[in-house]
Amino acid sequence: MAEIRYDGQVVVITGGGAGLGKTYAKFFAARGAKVVVNDLGGTFNGKPGANAAVADVVVKEIKDAGGEAVANYNAVQEGEKIVKTAIYNYGRVDVLINNAGILRDITIRNMKDEDWDVIMDVHVTGAMRTARAAWPFFRKQRYGKVINTSSSSGLFGNFGQANYAAAKMALVGFTETLAKEGLKYNIHCNVLAPAAASRLTQTVWPPEMMEAMNPASVVPLVGVLVHPSCSETGSIFEAGAGHYSKIRWQRSKGFIARPDDSLTPDVVLRNYDKIIDFSKGSSYPKGVANSVDLLEEAMAQPSNVRGDALDFKGKVVLV
Ligand code: NAI
Repeated sequence: MAEIRYDGQVVVITGGGAGLGKTYAKFFAARGAKVVVNDLGGTFNGKPGANAAVADVVVKEIKDAGGEAVANYNAVQEGEKIVKTAIYNYGRVDVLINNAGILRDITIRNMKDEDWDVIMDVHVTGAMRTARAAWPFFRKQRYGKVINTSSSSGLFGNFGQANYAAAKMALVGFTETLAKEGLKYNIHCNVLAPAAASRLTQTVWPPEMMEAMNPASVVPLVGVLVHPSCSETGSIFEAGAGHYSKIRWQRSKGFIARPDDSLTPDVVLRNYDKIIDFSKGSSYPKGVANSVDLLEEAMAQPSNVRGDALDFKGKVVLV
């Protein structure tokens, strides 16, 4: 079987100087891509102590192996400068992997504004600035691939990570929206929740687990998602230790009532079992249109007291 390759493609990887980012950078370069290795060489918690050399080291390793790469040292919050590096050196950008990240683990009880702000800034604002800068190039060439890096902490919550979880979940809504805005321009955007041994996980996981969680086993799924032959978009994936899966939203069939004065907590309580029942008739919503259908159905219900149904079908307008 022919090897999946990226010849001629320009891949921008933020936080490409360490951990997962470094592994992506070397993988794409080894398979023909020109890679922009962005990294400011920060500490794991975003506090002072930067080592700008990390991006240089990765670029040197790529070049020594016969590949093409260039370093960029800007913070992701200056995303336009990172994209400019791609355009200046290679004239285009095809793939953007928003991977840079830091942690500031602290419970909500002790969280300072700065612990919150710095996490939002790097993960959310950073991803927005790089994507916004790449977007006009993607639109013009009618091609682009974006991977935004979330986390199981964001998808499911994790003790002591309210700031990080909020930022990582923000990236889900961000990506789902970019996927919709990019669809007609052939710009595909997906979310990845990885699991890999790195300095971000070394304080959390035991040594045996660190050994099993090689970042290299996250790469194959990313390699498929950003390949020109893949049309997946607006989806959430998990990858780590050789396990790959897709995550989706599930809506229970629920209980539908007419939204008039007769709709009281007592009515809801009587029907609560239906609201939380996923066993029959659940669905997998992909957009707000699915919610509008439900609103229309609710309006068409008989009154909870009087029983007269109104026909509001088609009259609910989204603003
Ligand atoms: P890492 O700490 O090994 O690498 C992150 C890189 O991002 C570092 O080289 C750092 O200098 C760079 N960076 C940090 N802030 C930056 C900024 N403002 N601008 C430019 N570069 C910056 O971390 P790791 O584990 O490789 O994480 C990569 C991504 O995956 C992060 O977004 C992280 O939140 C996410 N993630 C990782 C998991 C894991 O199991 N390792 C689990 C879930 C999510």
